[in-house]
Amino acid sequence: MHTSYLIKFYYWCMKVLITGSNGFLGQHLTLYLSKQYNVIAISRGENRIAANTSYVYETLDLINEEVVAAVLKKHQPNVIIHNAAMSKPDECNKYKDVCLQQNVSATNYLLKHCLPSTHFIYISTDFVFGENGPHNEDDVKEPLNFYGESKWQAEQLVEKRIGLNTIVRPVFIYGQVLQGMRPSFLHWVKNNLEQEKRIKVVSDQQRTPTFVTDICKGITTIIQQKEKGVFHLAGKDIVSPYAMAITVADVLGLNKNFIENVTSETFPEPVKRAKKSGLKIDKAKTVLQYNPISFAEGVKLSFNL
Ligand SMILES: NC(=O)c1ccc[n+]([C@@H]2O[C@H](COP(=O)([O-])OP(=O)(O)OC[C@H]3O[C@@H](n4cnc5c(N)ncnc54)[C@H](OP(=O)(O)O)[C@@H]3O)[C@@H](O)[C@H]2O)c1
Repeated sequence: MHTSYLIKFYYWCMKVLITGSNGFLGQHLTLYLSKQYNVIAISRGENRIAANTSYVYETLDLINEEVVAAVLKKHQPNVIIHNAAMSKPDECNKYKDVCLQQNVSATNYLLKHCLPSTHFIYISTDFVFGENGPHNEDDVKEPLNFYGESKWQAEQLVEKRIGLNTIVRPVFIYGQVLQGMRPSFLHWVKNNLEQEKRIKVVSDQQRTPTFVTDICKGITTIIQQKEKGVFHLAGKDIVSPYAMAITVADVLGLNKNFIENVTSETFPEPVKRAKKSGLKIDKAKTVLQYNPISFAEGVKLSFNL
């Protein structure tokens, strides 16, 4: 039998359990990975993935330890991608106890009840860091808000597990908005400019936005190479939200005069966020041959251009 066929068959037999499959990254991961792996998609509500691909879906609240244990016993996944989270910083700040349950206790239950041989991949965030980005993997963790704090606590649980563990940190994930997903920042810019509505966008913050397919590819390599440790899977461009909005206008041929350049002081936020954020991706480039596309290219693909 041909070797590449055997490798494909081997991957197809691998069970990959993805938590938070109804979310933005979760939907993309489920659709991407179910083309080559045996995927078990897990979320709290009804399945919201509209596309018809081959995977198993389970409704499950991760804060219920008994149910988590039962589902892991039933499926015995080779890989868990723990992507589910309370992911909005304002919500985490307002409901701290719920945030700890969803982001920390749920991670603990998955770690406690998975097989010792399971490859555990935890999706974290750039919010574990403070100011002065872009950051390297091992920079000092100084979360500026409760969301970042909860994700950092979960990372530390993952690091304590004996076994194959990987922590992946993306930044400001963007990409195609599929049916059932909430509109993204890019789509908000497009919709307003199309209606010739003025928008104010901040230029004194920096991010390294991640195109969603790049993370999916990076995670696939992590699974195939059985890589452990921490990886930053972000974009290669350092851009401000204002520069992102201008790129959207340029790519879509919309009038950028409707985009007003403002500073963060225009939008006082209840929760502190780093002005200079972003992640360095040198390690992923070397170890995973991670090669993300430019932001402008990502915007084109986000709008199917
Ligand atoms: N979006 C970004 O820009 C970004 C940047 C850096 C890191 N991240 C990280 O990437 C991951 C995915 O982010 P996202 O923006 O795609 O998230 P999202 O759209 O908010 O989706 C999170 C999903 O998690 C599920 N979930 C939450 N609590 C659950 C529970 N107790 N039990 C079962 N499922 C639960 C929800 O399922 P239901 O919808 O069914 O309730 C939801 O669909 C998160 O870990 C986040 O911290 C995101």
